[in-house]
Amino acid sequence: MSYLEIIERHIDNFPEMPALSRNLLVYLDDPNVDFGVIRDMVQYDPGLTANVLRLVNSVYFGSVQEVSSLQAALVRLGTKRILELVLSLTASSRLVSSLPGYGLQANELLKHSIWTAVAARELARLLDMKEEETVFTVGLLHDLGIVILDPFIQERRLEFNTLSNSRSESFEQIEKMLLGMDHASAGSRILQNWKLSPEIVAVARWHHEPNQATEYKELVHLVHLADMLSLSQGIGTGIYGLRFNVFPESIKAVGLTKKHLEYTASKTLDKMRELETILS
Ligand SMILES: [Fe+2]
Ligand SMILES: [Fe+2]
Repeated sequence: MSYLEIIERHIDNFPEMPALSRNLLVYLDDPNVDFGVIRDMVQYDPGLTANVLRLVNSVYFGSVQEVSSLQAALVRLGTKRILELVLSLTASSRLVSSLPGYGLQANELLKHSIWTAVAARELARLLDMKEEETVFTVGLLHDLGIVILDPFIQERRLEFNTLSNSRSESFEQIEKMLLGMDHASAGSRILQNWKLSPEIVAVARWHHEPNQATEYKELVHLVHLADMLSLSQGIGTGIYGLRFNVFPESIKAVGLTKKHLEYTASKTLDKMRELETILS
C-alpha cells in the first residue's frame, strides 16, 4: 500500500460522522420538517443545546434579538444550518487538540478557524452576500485537513524541514510532494464523506489555490482572503510561518479593496475579544 493510500484510508475511517448528524441528515431534504422532532434529538445533548443557543445568540445573529429557547433557535437556523452547526461543533472538538506535526499548540487551530470564520462573515456582509452562515461554517471547517494530516507530518517532520528549507515552494506544495496530498484535499475529502454541501467541500479544497476553483468562486476567494488575514495576524501559522501562496487577485475577484480588508481585520479583532470570554 502506498503512503498516499494509507493516508486516504485514514481519512475515510476518521473521524466518524457523529450519530446525531447522521440522524439529522435524514431530515435535511424534508421541506415540511418538524422542528419538534429535531429539538428532541438535540436536547438530549446538553452540551450541544448550550452551544446551539450560545452560537445562535452570539455569533450567528449578533444578539440583536436574544433567542432563549432551543426550538426557536433551531427554527431560526433551519435544518441545513443545524446540520452544519452540529458538524462544526464536532469538528471544533477536533480543532482544540495540539498538533505537534504542524507546530500548533492546543486551541491554536480552533482560534485560527474561528478568526477566519468571523472575518469571512464580515467580508460577506460587506458584499451583501446571502449565505452569511454558510460562510461562517466554511471558515470554521476550512483547515480540518490539518487535523488529519498532522500525524503524517509528524512522522516525516525531518524530511519536511529539509524540503521546506531547501525549496521555495509554498508549504501546501511541500505537503503534496511529501504526502501525495495537501491538507486542503484531505479536509475536503472528509467534508465530502460527511455529505456536506458542495460549496463547503469546494472552499476547503481550493482555499489555498482560489484560482483553480471552477465553482463557488466568490466564496472560495472570500475564505482565502479571510484565511490570509487570520494568518497575517500570526494566528495559527505554526510551522508554516507565512509561507503560503497569497492571491492578491482574490481582492479584485470579489470586488473589495485593501481598505475593506483592513476594516475587516479590525472588526474581527473586536469580535474575537468579545468571543474570547464566551469561548473560554
Ligand atoms: Fe489551510
Ligand atoms: Fe487556514
